[in-house]
Amino acid sequence: MINGEKVLDHPIRWAMVGGGRGSQIGYIHRSAALRDRSFELVAGAFDINPERGKDFGIQLGVAPERCYPDYKTMLMEEAKRSPEDRIEAVTIAVPNGLHYAVCKAVLEAGFHAVCEKPLCFTTEQAEELVHLADSKGLVVGVTYGYSGHQLIEQARQMVLHGDLGEIRLIKMQFPFGAYNTAVEETNAAARWRMDPAKAGPSFVLGDVGTHPLFLAETMVPDFEIESLMCTTKSFIPTRKLEDNAFVIMNLKGGAQATCWASAINCGALHGQKVRIVGSKASVEWYDERPNQLTYEIEGEPVRILERGGAYLYPSARAEDRISGGHTEGLFDAWSNLYRRFAIAMEKANKGEKADFWYPDVHAGAEGVKWVEKCVESAKKGAVWVKY
Ligand code: NAI
Repeated sequence: MINGEKVLDHPIRWAMVGGGRGSQIGYIHRSAALRDRSFELVAGAFDINPERGKDFGIQLGVAPERCYPDYKTMLMEEAKRSPEDRIEAVTIAVPNGLHYAVCKAVLEAGFHAVCEKPLCFTTEQAEELVHLADSKGLVVGVTYGYSGHQLIEQARQMVLHGDLGEIRLIKMQFPFGAYNTAVEETNAAARWRMDPAKAGPSFVLGDVGTHPLFLAETMVPDFEIESLMCTTKSFIPTRKLEDNAFVIMNLKGGAQATCWASAINCGALHGQKVRIVGSKASVEWYDERPNQLTYEIEGEPVRILERGGAYLYPSARAEDRISGGHTEGLFDAWSNLYRRFAIAMEKANKGEKADFWYPDVHAGAEGVKWVEKCVESAKKGAVWVKY
């Protein structure tokens, strides 16, 4: 159970690039990072508009002289401060096209990073970031935030303990409905997502498909793709990137998987689900009901496992913030991840490795590779490609 007691010697001195006023994702980063006093927000280049960013930073309690006009100035100026005072970690919550450049600069400056997905656009870029992080002993956390829900850990433990038998099928989906018309004409956050220069080689595969992909990789620890086939389509003809994608995957060891990523699934809020089918039983997790995990044993009535239940594996209860029956949500899941990022960063500072999983630079790189392979398959006319 997490009670908000401090887990680090000192809160990590933390900065943000992006996540400014009105951004979709900035607040949950701050809320998650600051929740357990693992991080302390001391600097930032919060906005593409420097004045608005400075005003916003001051409103967040950041010293005016540490509200910087851009990330390059921030890294340069922070490096001049004493080691006891300068930032130690930077969150990158800007549109996709900037992730690689900012993450690389942060690592080169010797700071840990928390980077939004997708980590970058190409495998080469991802390999460079992996190498930089590993060679400098720095942590890169990637905010696949849903993975912080405790029932994801429960599913992982059930798979590891053989409760489902041999894993046969993994069905992933994240098909939301809100972009079923050309919303990008009036919505700025939607507009950059449809622009290949800013969003990367894909829209829905990268924007939403990588979320259930990481959940599946976490739930099924030996998840390894051998080959895949993908078909994509833009149902809104003015879009340069796909708004719907179907992927079929053959996994090493014989299991098969599918992923449906969509932005035009009318009527669906998120619709994000991961279903793991084994030879004995199946589990299914749905992000709109994150406190429940469906457990279906062949020939028996359906069971609903509840977060906080005494029957769960101990590691699936370790991050409860309140007893079962009370709802926990996405902000709690993100807080769990940020807490793990902080502990991993402190360990890294002492030259130690984290002895727990979290979405790290390798997970980020895997998402980049998956999108790249899906796009390759789709462009060739939905052919099977080796992974
Ligand atoms: P947004 O468009 O709502 O906000 C972007 C923010 O970045 C704004 O404050 C903007 O002023 C700032 N910004 C842009 N360029 C900048 C620069 N050069 N320097 C400093 N700040 C700059 O975008 P949103 O939806 O918040 O997405 C940001 C990132 O978060 C994206 O990579 C997106 O894929 C990711 N995201 C992740 C989610 C998750 O569940 N992990 C959910 C939603 C978004």
